[in-house]
Amino acid sequence: MKSAASGFAESRIPNPQSVVITGASSGIGLALARHYLERGATVAACARRAELLQTLSAEFPDKVFCYALDVRDAAAIRAAASDFMARAGVPDIVIANAGVSCGTLTEYVEDEEVFQSVMDINVLGIVKTFQPFLAAMRSKPPLPPGEDWGGEKRFAPTLVGIASVAGLRGLPGSGAYSASKAAAISYMESLRVELYGSGVKVVTLCPGYIKTPMTDINTYPMPFILDADMAAKRMARVIERGTSFAVVPWQMGLVGWVMQHLPNWLYDRLFANAPHKSRNVKLD
Ligand SMILES: NC(=O)c1ccc[n+]([C@@H]2O[C@H](COP(=O)([O-])OP(=O)(O)OC[C@H]3O[C@@H](n4cnc5c(N)ncnc54)[C@H](OP(=O)(O)O)[C@@H]3O)[C@@H](O)[C@H]2O)c1
Repeated sequence: MKSAASGFAESRIPNPQSVVITGASSGIGLALARHYLERGATVAACARRAELLQTLSAEFPDKVFCYALDVRDAAAIRAAASDFMARAGVPDIVIANAGVSCGTLTEYVEDEEVFQSVMDINVLGIVKTFQPFLAAMRSKPPLPPGEDWGGEKRFAPTLVGIASVAGLRGLPGSGAYSASKAAAISYMESLRVELYGSGVKVVTLCPGYIKTPMTDINTYPMPFILDADMAAKRMARVIERGTSFAVVPWQMGLVGWVMQHLPNWLYDRLFANAPHKSRNVKLD
């Protein structure tokens, strides 16, 4: 079916009714929350800064449930998940987006703690986010393996992990961040295969450069940088299609593909002097 106004084929997939998003206080998570709220979804907005979640909630009265929590705290996420499911039902989409980024160098002993925090938040935070929802999402009527979503009457339950292009290859000065995002990509793939045929979709999204507070501090050039609202729109399209893996924007997908296929001897020479992220960023 085509929309007369846009000329684009209209999606036959209904809008999601309820969406859980971690890291919804800022940047990509906030833009995704707004995207789904503007389309009528109820959103569980999770992050540590309660005041920012409340600001979002004031914009969309009765549609936002705010959960001020740290994704390292499994008990807090479990409590938020049961509260949200009791009020809004089993979510259509859970987006594990919360993440931190900073430079690290192995030679500095004080960076050991930073490595720990980055792994705890960027990797285990995803596991802890999905865990309390998974059984309930699986119990929604399953789709047969390989089934086209086009004829579906409801949004297929979907788990979304936000990784990064930085996880496709180890970036110098970003050992913790690159390792965490590589781990996130592998974890998401394991989960996807585990859930094959269960009816629960698993989508791994790798942003390139998106304009958010995380990148605002970078002093080096950021090719193909996208604003957060546009990024959210494109990510939502990937989620709707249930694409298993995507880079946003696609141009950074090409860059990532080339990086992945460079032999080590060439990668090392090309990236030895690549700009480093700033160290000594305070992570609480
Ligand atoms: N921007 C980019 O170019 C880019 C590129 C690749 C990947 N990414 C990934 O995209 C995701 C979002 O990043 P962003 O650019 O939107 O950054 P951002 O604006 O700094 O947002 C990060 C979000 O994560 C939340 N968060 C951080 N630590 C948390 C914790 N321990 N518990 C709960 N929430 C926590 C923050 O909320 P509170 O501080 O309120 O808790 C905030 O809402 C991250 O996973 C990031 O690695 C971003």
